[in-house]
Amino acid sequence: MEKNQIETSQSGITCIRGAFFDFLDDPWKYIEREHESARYIRDGLLVVEGGIIKDFGSFDKLSPKYPDQPVTHIKNRIILPGFIDGHIHFPQVRVLGAYGKQLLDWLQMWIFPEEIKYANRDYASEAAKRFFDDLLAGGTTTCQAFTTSSPVSTEVFFAEAERRGMRTIAGLTGIDRFAPPDYVITPDDFYSESKRLIETYHRKGRHLYAITPRFAVGCTDAMMEACAKLKKEFPDCWINTHISENPTEVRQAKQEFPDCTDYTAVHEKHGLLGPKFTAGHGVWLSNDEFRRFAKAGAGVCFCPLSNLFLGSGLFRIGRALDPDHRVRLSLGCDMGGGNAFSLIRVLEEAYKVGMCNNTMLDGSVNEREHDAAEAERNKLNPYRAFYLATLGGAQALYLDDVLGNFNVGKEADFVALDWNAGQLALDWHQSLVTTESAPATIDQAAMLLFGIMACGDDRNVDETWINGKRAYKKG
Ligand code: GUN
Ligand code: ZN
Repeated sequence: MEKNQIETSQSGITCIRGAFFDFLDDPWKYIEREHESARYIRDGLLVVEGGIIKDFGSFDKLSPKYPDQPVTHIKNRIILPGFIDGHIHFPQVRVLGAYGKQLLDWLQMWIFPEEIKYANRDYASEAAKRFFDDLLAGGTTTCQAFTTSSPVSTEVFFAEAERRGMRTIAGLTGIDRFAPPDYVITPDDFYSESKRLIETYHRKGRHLYAITPRFAVGCTDAMMEACAKLKKEFPDCWINTHISENPTEVRQAKQEFPDCTDYTAVHEKHGLLGPKFTAGHGVWLSNDEFRRFAKAGAGVCFCPLSNLFLGSGLFRIGRALDPDHRVRLSLGCDMGGGNAFSLIRVLEEAYKVGMCNNTMLDGSVNEREHDAAEAERNKLNPYRAFYLATLGGAQALYLDDVLGNFNVGKEADFVALDWNAGQLALDWHQSLVTTESAPATIDQAAMLLFGIMACGDDRNVDETWINGKRAYKKG
């Protein structure tokens, strides 16, 4: 039998043995004892049937219950729930790494001319293969994605997700101004095409549909009203958009919606802010806007790779997570605004943003008030970081009933990380592994995970599993 080959018994049960690390709660609630929010089973067994977790626990205790089942033993890896990306652009896969402009100019120069091409089914289908290959190579098993204003791109996106068995959220992307004439879509066409797509895809297999007004600068009141009408007719759908990403964009949104006191008010005015609403970025949201997001149950998706690549600014993690107005927070790569697919790299940049925020908070050299509690919340230790990439992302996106950890009944999507790959082939990291093939303690496992997020990337993703089946193995 080939190394790591999966064995599924005739009963359709798959058993995976290895070192498992997941979360049961939000580590920000456990300051300086974050490990209490996590669960580490050094020698564990995950039992999967029909893509769903049937049993999970220590190998010694569980294996007698499954005496005749073959077991796939994943050694020298830490197994985490699959990463959840709350904000990514499917049709930007071919313009990843476009040089030198900030958001609004970058959209006009590189993005809209490329996204127009996705009305062509062959062009879009080719890109979809590459898009999902790259996601899986980065350990991402679920994403909430933007498509284009052509329904073809949404159809192609869901077709490829279905081929891979992946749970995804996506929808036709609405924009009726601020783009070339052959790219915009009228609110009426947006409404009727969205309705058709919702009826075709929403909750079919693992597909979930997001009503998607691209951003306030590109959406008139009529487009926002079309979204509101769809949400009223299909209240179970998600809503996906951008908010307060870049200062010039924020100023332009204010000009376009003079009756709104701030950016968030645009969504409140149309009754969109609420559960299952996610806005990417939120770099320039005020405390009051965070408060309204929190109260409404709406989510923000933090996209540090993009915020740094496009020079948009530093997201205020500690403010967003203030217990007085804690927003639901997911992480996104925002590819192609973000210059990689990898959520491991997103964690690295998120960590750096938190560190820089604390420099900005240093009251000894600037006027900003030093708030010790906020400074503490800005620190992205490995528990907080990997929580955001897994259970936290699932909670922010209202997916935690089916995803986010290894609880029985959830969907079996997971990733096996190699701490001894890429830049990390270091004796220091290996020295943390004090037992035969996995770290002995939860804190050692967390330190290895920190090494992976600080220095790692796709090279540390050895295997990615979807629905209890291996969908990617590093070559
Ligand atoms: N705002 C509106 N469209 C986009 C986009 O494609 N990328 C990013 N980063 N921000 C946007
Ligand atoms: Zn985006």
